[in-house]
Parts: sequence; structure tokens; C-alpha cells
Amino acid sequence: MSSNQNPIVPHFSIKVWAKISLGVITSFLFGPWWLVAFLHRLRGVKIHNIWRVFIAGQVLIDSRFPELVEIEEEVYITRGVIIHTHFAPPPFLEAKIGGVRTGRVIIKRGAYIGMNSIILPGVTVGEGAVIGTGSVVTKNVADYTMVAGNPARVIKSVYEIRPMNDAGMNP
Ligand SMILES: CC(C)(COP(=O)(O)OP(=O)(O)OC[C@H]1O[C@@H](n2cnc3c(N)ncnc32)[C@H](O)[C@@H]1OP(=O)(O)O)[C@@H](O)C(=O)NCCC(=O)NCCS
Repeated sequence: MSSNQNPIVPHFSIKVWAKISLGVITSFLFGPWWLVAFLHRLRGVKIHNIWRVFIAGQVLIDSRFPELVEIEEEVYITRGVIIHTHFAPPPFLEAKIGGVRTGRVIIKRGAYIGMNSIILPGVTVGEGAVIGTGSVVTKNVADYTMVAGNPARVIKSVYEIRPMNDAGMNP
């Protein structure tokens, strides 16, 4: 093994480490819901109104570029969701394909993101859209559309989502 190899991980400044750490700490909190939203906003996430969104615990919003995420009012992000805004090739690959690539993620008014879904860089989730649990969203989602799966595909209009009456939530 030669001694002049690239480092395995890139060098981060203390500021970047602090930013990443705040993201991880925030993801461990389970409430109150407004504090979670406030801390994400402190990290740089563009949250329109911290009192009018729900971001659950264990939600990871990009550690390096949280400022590239915009979340409008009435958005509901359930547990375990991961939102990415960048791809950072490790040093070995960077030498061949170039450096960090980023893309904004916009989650529009009233969208719902089901548990453990992953949103990739550059995706806009439309107003009132529903992401089925466990989906990997690679492309924009149109307003009031339900998508699901990996990669997420259009399933139906949100107006066609089945009523589930077992808990008496629907009349
Ligand atoms: C969005 C959701 C409510 C849709 O429910 P629904 O209207 O009952 O959907 P259906 O069961 O009729 O599914 C329609 C089709 O989509 C598929 N589908 C539904 N959810 C899916 C998912 N998460 N991943 C992959 N496929 C899914 C079904 O298999 C079905 O396919 P088919 O037509 O080939 O049989 C539900 O999928 C969901 O994800 N709920 C959120 C659960 C959650 O995250 N809760 C967190 C606590 S709030």
C-alpha cells in the first residue's frame, strides 16, 4: 500500500462537523414537534412555518446541505424518512468523476411522506402528494398524486386512496 494515497474520507472543517452533528442530534428528538422543526430550520432547512409542519423523530434531512431543502406549510414527514440533497463521491471516485453534486428538494404544501421513504436530490414533491411507506422517490411527484415503491411510481390520485375504517377514523 503506497503512503501517498488519497484519504478515505474528505477533510471537514469544524463548522461542517458541527452542522452534521446538529442534523444527527435533531434526528434523535421525538418532540415536541415544533422544536424538531425549529432545529431543522436552525440547521438551514427552509421551513416556511415551524408551527404548521410535522417532522417526526428519526427523520434525516441532508447533513451537508440542509439549506437545499424547502418545506412548505402543512407538510407531514413521518418517522424514518431520509431526504438527500447531495451525492459526494468518495476521494477514489472523485478523481475520476468529479466532486459533489447537489440538487434542491422541495416539498410542497400539504404533502405526506410515508415512513422510511427516501427522497433523492432534485425532487419536488407536489402539493397534497402522498408518498407510500418505504418508497424511494427519484423523480418529481405531481400535485395530489400518490406514488409508491422503489423506484416510486404513480399509483393513483390521492382522492382514490382507500378509506380504512378499523380505528373509526372515517365515518
Ligand atoms: C399511501 C397509502 C395510504 C395508500 O393506501 P391504499 O390506498 O390502501 O393503497 P392500496 O393498498 O389500494 O394500494 C394500491 C396499489 O399500490 C401498492 N402500494 C400501496 N402502498 C405501497 C407502498 N408503500 N409501496 C409499494 N406499493 C404500494 C399496492 O400494492 C397496490 O398495488 P396493486 O394495485 O398492484 O395491488 C399507504 O400505502 C401508505 O403508505 N400509508 C402510510 C403508512 C405510514 O407511513 N404511516 C405512518 C404513520 S402516519
